Amino acid sequence: MRTKMELVILVCARIWFVISCLVGVGAMRNSSTTTVAHEATAPGLLSYKYYETSCPQVESIVTDKLTPVLLSDPASSAALLRLLFHDCQVQGCDASILLDSDTSEMGSRKNFAIRNRETIGMIKTAVDSVCPGTVSCSDILVLAARDAVAMSGGPKIKVPLGRKDSNSSSHTFADASLPAANAGVSETLSIFTKRGMTIEESVAILGSHTLGVSHCVNINMDRFSSRQIIGANRTPFEALVALRCAFAPSFSNSAALGNDVTVTTFDNQYYKDVSGGRGLLKIDSDMSTDPRTAPIVERFAQNQDEFFKEFTAAFVKLASTNVLTGHQGVVRTKCNAVD
Ligand code: HEM
Repeated sequence: MRTKMELVILVCARIWFVISCLVGVGAMRNSSTTTVAHEATAPGLLSYKYYETSCPQVESIVTDKLTPVLLSDPASSAALLRLLFHDCQVQGCDASILLDSDTSEMGSRKNFAIRNRETIGMIKTAVDSVCPGTVSCSDILVLAARDAVAMSGGPKIKVPLGRKDSNSSSHTFADASLPAANAGVSETLSIFTKRGMTIEESVAILGSHTLGVSHCVNINMDRFSSRQIIGANRTPFEALVALRCAFAPSFSNSAALGNDVTVTTFDNQYYKDVSGGRGLLKIDSDMSTDPRTAPIVERFAQNQDEFFKEFTAAFVKLASTNVLTGHQGVVRTKCNAVD
């Protein structure tokens, strides 16, 4: 038998539980508006309104400055998107990759062929001329990458802002944190699920390989080496890769092939290519046969809207996890140098 006091406590606890649940459900229902309003005033968090009063022009300055870059060199969209991934994957998106200007043998090997760092510095100078010392290099990099996606035909993504920059970078840490060129499905899924991505979002973020190229040095030739370069068993795609790359690494790092057929257009062609056996990197190829990812690859190959929807969610997660905010980090004066 419970005492009167125990019953009172039990009833109070139940009432408290019900009220908490109602408040919780209400907060979840209004999560977008509630979170945005909260983030706008809380210095420790990212917010969709972060620069609303301090630099309302930031997004239009980024777009204006980036447009001529992409018009004169459409391959820059791929470079900026990869730059963002390599920044966010190492210490969270903190613009540390912009400090690491050495991509030679002495620098990070996994940052091989990283380009367009100077584009972010150029945009930062333009932003600082209107809002001095306000906008971080890491936010500019995120905005530039999302504009690069949209300007190449991809989804227009709304991103929360308020990241701070770090004042350090490490080649060793970069090499330890970035995936190897021959990463497989399990390693790749573990990288993205750690950032809170679903398996659909993980497959969607790899759809970034709808843009750009891969150099032969990064293409796993084992899948091609056991047969003649042009032989009865070769598909036309295999013959192309083998012809282009079979001898290239021995004398040059410059030979490259498109990651999909439409290298400057952000579309779902990548999924059509990989599901048709034309995956260039190991991960592209493996994803189309692994039972965990193959059905999603097929879905995205059939339906570009589905891909864009999942990519949008994945991009925001990639760019928002483990970032410096509030009093952590700094707003660097120059993107390519510590203050
Ligand atoms: C975790 C799995 C991933 C692996 C193993 C991987 C590996 C690679 C490799 C080896 C290249 C070729 C670099 C070269 O030879 O020039 C490449 C290119 C590229 N990657 Fe990834 N990547 C991964 C995920 C991502 C993600 C998440 C993004 C973007 C958010 C991304 C964006 C790109 C882009 C756009 C290119 C083309 C770059 C250019 O043309 O300049 N990758 N990736």
